[in-house]
Order: sequence, then structure tokens, then C-alpha cells
Amino acid sequence: MDKIYILNNKMNLLSDDIDNYINETNKLNNDYNIIIAPSSIYLQQFINKSIHKVCSQNAYHPNSGAYTGEISFSQLKSLGVNYCIIGHSERRNIFNETDDIINKKISSCVNNNIIPILCVGESKEERENNNQNEKIKKQIQEALNNNQIQEIIIAYEPIWSIGRGITPTKEEIQDIANYIYDILNQYNIKFKILYGGSVDNNNINDILNITNISGVLMGGSSLKTEVLNQIFNK
Ligand code: PGA
Repeated sequence: MDKIYILNNKMNLLSDDIDNYINETNKLNNDYNIIIAPSSIYLQQFINKSIHKVCSQNAYHPNSGAYTGEISFSQLKSLGVNYCIIGHSERRNIFNETDDIINKKISSCVNNNIIPILCVGESKEERENNNQNEKIKKQIQEALNNNQIQEIIIAYEPIWSIGRGITPTKEEIQDIANYIYDILNQYNIKFKILYGGSVDNNNINDILNITNISGVLMGGSSLKTEVLNQIFNK
């Protein structure tokens, strides 16, 4: 069971919910490679109590300094966090993260030995204009430029699918997975490609059967224990 399952809680769950969430997710079959990304204020709790791997949803690239409200990759490392989501479309679109900032964050991952989960993907308009490949290539190239990275996870997340209950066709995901595979193959990097966007218990098996797709990133489904149980405790 070497597929990767990232549970991105986004900005959800209150302090009182966390023990219960950790207990429920600790009941999921640990043979699966589950990586949970809670809000950063709960990372320590997950490190202490969760049986699963723990991931940050974001971090800022300098190691320390006057950056009120931010957390650094070195702080994540010091906590024992080995993964970080970088460049989620919500970060890019709501918080104006550019490819240049994302490049610096990847660099900080390299320096702190954290495996980045780099999110890439096109908007609805870019898909309608058939510009998805161009967009994804640019996002990957600019993120990796001048970074001596050894290992990366790329999550293909079409923006028009996230949180919408719609997914691309299997053929569309296959095309992008092959395309990303060919790009990454040109670098001397260990990599895996995931799919993210409205993944649930009904579509997950079809998605995981797509060649070159090594896992999924789940947002909404990560909060639904009945959905998680159906996926992991069949
Ligand atoms: P979703 O979110 O599963 O709710 O569509 C996925 C994501 O944004 O990573």
C-alpha cells in the first residue's frame, strides 16, 4: 500500500475537536500511507498523539526573524514535521503567493530537509483555453529553478475541481499525470504525483488506478470520518 493519502484539514476544527479527530484517524488502518495536515496551531498535538505522519499546510521561507504571524521551515523541522504543502491554489490566489515566493519556499524545504508537496493546477478559464499544460509546466519549472532538491511530491489540483464536487475525467487526469511525469523525469529528482480536487470514497479507486498517480490529496473528505472509514477500513 505505497499510495500516499494527504488529509488537508485547511482552516477547520476547533481546539475541542482535535482529540476526537486524532482518536478517529488513529483508528484508520495504518498500513495506508496517511499524512495529516492540520492547522499549524495543532501540529504539536498531532506529533504527540497521531499514529500518522504529519504535514504543515504552509510555512514562510526565512529561518527566523521579524515576520509576525508566520512560521518557518526550521521551526517545523524542530517540531518533527517532515512534510509541507507548498503553493496550494488557496495560498496562490487568496494570499498572492507568486512562483518566486514558492521557489524560495522549496529552497527552504531543501535546507531544512522537509519534503515539499507542491500544488499545481489550472483555473477553469485556463482549461477552457487549453492552457493547462503550459500553466503547470511554468509552475513546476519556476518552483524547481536553481533548487538542489532530491525529493518532491507534486499534487495536480485543478482549481475548478477543488471543493466543487466535480473532477476531471480519468483521461484528463491521465494526460496531466503523464505530462508532469515527463517534466519531472528531466530532473534528477525522486518524485511522486498525486491528484487533488473533490476526492471522496466514490471516486478514489478510479483515481488511484490512473497510471503515474501515486496518491491523493483530500480536503473536504479529510473532515468526514465516515468517508475516511469507507476508504481505509473496508
Ligand atoms: P477538496 O480540496 O478535496 O475539498 O476538493 C482539495 C484541496 O484543496 O487540496
